[in-house]
Amino acid sequence: MRTLLFIAACLAATLASLSCDPVHDSAVDALGAEAPGVSKGPKHRPGQPCITCHDGSLGSPQHFSVAGTIFLNQEDLTPANGATVTLISADNNTAQAVTNSAGNFYVTPQQFTPAYPMKVTVDYTGRVRAKMTSHVGRDGSCADCHTDPAGPTSAGHVFVPVDGVTP
Ligand code: HEC
Ligand code: HEC
Repeated sequence: MRTLLFIAACLAATLASLSCDPVHDSAVDALGAEAPGVSKGPKHRPGQPCITCHDGSLGSPQHFSVAGTIFLNQEDLTPANGATVTLISADNNTAQAVTNSAGNFYVTPQQFTPAYPMKVTVDYTGRVRAKMTSHVGRDGSCADCHTDPAGPTSAGHVFVPVDGVTP
């Protein structure tokens, strides 16, 4: 009976949203509602793993191959507006994206589909932060690894320090 109910619920969900993947749906739900005053679009959900939702599955929002958010500082969530993110595919194809006023950037599969491992550099007013190839293994959402708080299991949000201490 439970199974039948589940299937019925899935059918309803499929008709409603073209999605019936409980794991995926709960990952999306876990990200919560939109922030007050921010509408769905280029500046929403800074710091979140964009591709959890923008994954190209049927009924999902626009598909991104790589997306994320760049912040200015390690200590707070001030967005880095106008940072250039350079993505270098394992086959040496490259793509660049510039962050908007929320710090968000995104590229679509039509623009760029990386071969992994991918190398990433972030350039903000001349301060370049490079990232080791080995770290982006197969994952287009920066925030799959870069979540707060920083610690043994997370790199923390991506930042470009304004005092420029880094290489
Ligand atoms: C919890 C799910 C979710 C997350 C996480 C999410 N988005 Fe979205 N996004 C949506 C939905 C839903 C829409 C609305 C799509 C529509 O109106 O057709 C949307 C719309 C957009 C649009 C407009 C696209 C279009 O074609 O209209 C952009 C750009 C966008 N999001 C960027 C991002 C970025 C960048 C991130 C990560 C920093 C992100 N989103 C994270 C669900 C999400
Ligand atoms: C698979 C996990 C993973 C993914 C995905 C990932 N990173 Fe990282 N990143 C790390 C780890 C771990 C570090 C810390 C070690 C280092 O500096 O290489 C790091 C460090 C960095 C740094 C230097 C330090 C910092 O926090 O500012 C930058 C810049 C960076 N990542 C950018 C990005 C961007 C942009 C993306 C998305 C396109 C991304 N990373 C995706 C794991 C990841």
